[in-house]
Amino acid sequence: AATRTFSILKPDATRRNLTGAINAMIEGTGLRIIAQKRLHLTRAQAEGFYAVHRERGFFGELVDFMISGPVVVQVLEGENAVPTYRDIMGATNPANADEGTIRKTHAESIEANSVHGSDSEENAAIEISYFFAQTEITG
Ligand code: CMP
Repeated sequence: AATRTFSILKPDATRRNLTGAINAMIEGTGLRIIAQKRLHLTRAQAEGFYAVHRERGFFGELVDFMISGPVVVQVLEGENAVPTYRDIMGATNPANADEGTIRKTHAESIEANSVHGSDSEENAAIEISYFFAQTEITG
């Protein structure tokens, strides 16, 4: 059955005009981009989104980076959406990412790693509702 995941194209990607290139890689997996908007996150939005990482040493840098330019937030739908998207994203650190993945192809560093994707269906639902109203999602 079709399921959903949440995606962010990060500021390093929008800065380098990679929205279309990354969306083509997403669509190449068969996932459908069923909602999408470009936003410049506020500090409060970024801190709230990444609250689970608040105690990590990189939290402040991560938030600074995520508000350094616009992002594109997306809802992706398709078969096994969470693992399908994680496979095409590649490892968090682009140095460890497989050939052909978004991060191997485009990411600059473990911080400027071009994309975020939910790690579970449960978190996908939480993350989607953080940025999208039901009326903005058309399956
Ligand atoms: P993301 O999937 O968006 O979730 C948390 C983010 O923290 C992660 O992608 C990385 O971009 C970032 N991150 C993880 N580890 C580090 C680190 N050691 N230094 C800086 N950023 C990190």
